[in-house]
Amino acid sequence: MHEVAVIGGDGIGPEIIATGRKVLDAAGERYGFEIGWTDFDIGADRYLKTGELVSEQELDALSSYPAIYFGAIGDDRVTPGILEKGILLTLRFAFDQYVNLRPVKMLAGVETPLAGKGPKDIDFLVVRENTEDFYVGIGSRFTGKEHKQLEVVRNLYSVKFGLDVESDAEEIAYQIGVLTREGSRRVIEYAFDASRKRRKKVTSVDKANVLSDVYGLWRDVFRDVAAQNQDITTEFNYVDAITMWFVKNPEWFDVVVTPNMFGDIITDLGAMIQGGLGLAPGGNINPHGTSMFEPIHGSAPKYKGQNVANPFATIWAGAMLLDHLGEEEAGAAIVKGIEASISKGVVTRDMGGSASTSAVGDWVADWIRRSK
Ligand code: IPM
Ligand code: MN
Repeated sequence: MHEVAVIGGDGIGPEIIATGRKVLDAAGERYGFEIGWTDFDIGADRYLKTGELVSEQELDALSSYPAIYFGAIGDDRVTPGILEKGILLTLRFAFDQYVNLRPVKMLAGVETPLAGKGPKDIDFLVVRENTEDFYVGIGSRFTGKEHKQLEVVRNLYSVKFGLDVESDAEEIAYQIGVLTREGSRRVIEYAFDASRKRRKKVTSVDKANVLSDVYGLWRDVFRDVAAQNQDITTEFNYVDAITMWFVKNPEWFDVVVTPNMFGDIITDLGAMIQGGLGLAPGGNINPHGTSMFEPIHGSAPKYKGQNVANPFATIWAGAMLLDHLGEEEAGAAIVKGIEASISKGVVTRDMGGSASTSAVGDWVADWIRRSK
């Protein structure tokens, strides 16, 4: 029995997760395992009722699960940032899920906006660092003379640029990105290990030509790890350039390892080239702790409760969850089931079909039960 915690969350989250669960249960029937699901009532509704985001007790309870199946977070009634930081990022950080694994793989039968490219060209893995960089939440915002911290910024500005901030700037905001050698090393090592099971090439993403302190450290660590893995081909790409290459030559990439914020940005682009956000799954992984699997897309509040949202990203995230639990055969079958569903035209309207969220899930579940 695999015990899995469930956070449906906001908007379309609960319905896509319910659909994903049906598919995972079917995979369990077919491959001989059971999943014990435990729901956690975490999200905007509860926050608006009680003011609670995630409690210490919940973190404690969640920490005993190997995996969390996560829908989506985000609600129009709540100021942007509160739920994202207070729930999603809190969970990623609390469980030290330092790898954000995002496959960019175009499935058979899907359309990509990239002319002349197909499934054999678009098949790489983005390994996004998930606990450092500009996501550490160190920053502040204040006006002129009111704030003691101005001293810090004034010194910085006058030393670096000869600017008198007090007279020049009416309001100041800053945010600090932090990288550590250990934090960079563990995720870069994960990327090298992942590429050894694939096509043995790792691409590093950074902006070491401008943000040379943080990403200079990143590059040093990447070089160290590369030196210890000489069977793997390596290259450096600046983040601006890699967006261009994703579009022009996606077939060059095997494993792409990236600091947190650049990883956030380039995986939305990755999702588009693989066929759309409706098809892009992700795993927040702590190889030794509680990991969390979710679609990359958000909660799409305007489609809430309509049974029209595309469930493929969530179903695929469920396949990654099963891989993580050691049920690789079942995970692979689920991805095949998604492809079968696409090839039969059993898809939601964002992909040109007319099937409902739950109908797509039922079809894939049924396909898996009957698969050889
Ligand atoms: C993602 C999202 C999150 C992120 C937000 C919602 C905090 O955009 O998972 O890519 O920035 O990581
Ligand atoms: Mn994002």
